[in-house]
Amino acid sequence: MRRKLVVGNWKLNGSLAANASLLGGIVAGLDGGADCGVCVPAPYLAQAQALLTGSPVSWGAQDVSAHAAGAFTGEVSAAMLADFACRYVIVGHSERRAYHAESSELVAKKAIAVLDAGMSPIVCVGETLAEREAGQTVVVVRNQLGAVLALAGERFAQIVVAYEPVWAIGTGKTATPAMAQEVHARLRAQLAETNAISAGAVQILYGGSMKPDNAAELMAQPDIDGGLIGGAALKAADFLAIIHAGK
Ligand code: 13P
Repeated sequence: MRRKLVVGNWKLNGSLAANASLLGGIVAGLDGGADCGVCVPAPYLAQAQALLTGSPVSWGAQDVSAHAAGAFTGEVSAAMLADFACRYVIVGHSERRAYHAESSELVAKKAIAVLDAGMSPIVCVGETLAEREAGQTVVVVRNQLGAVLALAGERFAQIVVAYEPVWAIGTGKTATPAMAQEVHARLRAQLAETNAISAGAVQILYGGSMKPDNAAELMAQPDIDGGLIGGAALKAADFLAIIHAGK
């Protein structure tokens, strides 16, 4: 059986003081439930490592350079993230695809950089509202995931997939459990085209306005293995409630 996994994506939020209080609250309040982690802004990785080492909470980053080293001002390499013992690195979040013009090919290169450094990429896929209304959801997410699978081959077993419909992110609108399950099942079937046994072990998270009051219902779906949480990950009580809903 796949374990449930709940990961917080802090996005562009935090400060040393606020993080200490949030992480302290999460660690103190944990009481079973899903496996969990937080993806923090890169400058706070040392703090996350210091406060979370020895706790059940994993940590990671929100993006990575596709390059290993060199003249790439502002970039952070996968090896640097591994230096801080990151377990996860989000790649291909829709905010990066939209605001930083990241193509699926670039996202795939980033995923490989993360795998090469011994961490798990959380590969985000998802359609916009216009794409959903045009009936293109399945083809859009298939192409996004396919670009990663083309480079990863059998190593796809090390990735986590996150289905995040763009229209549900930060809007309070959630995909219904049935809508999300339908896409998750398609994604798993696509993984199974490479290796059916490994596909059964890959965690496919849902993201997009997941909250304490809808988390249990979403995670009860057979192919929804947890959540990638934005806003609700910034409040210890809400994040804990989602983790505890993933038992
Ligand atoms: P919200 O939970 O704020 O909708 O954000 C979801 C998300 O983008 C996680 O990566």
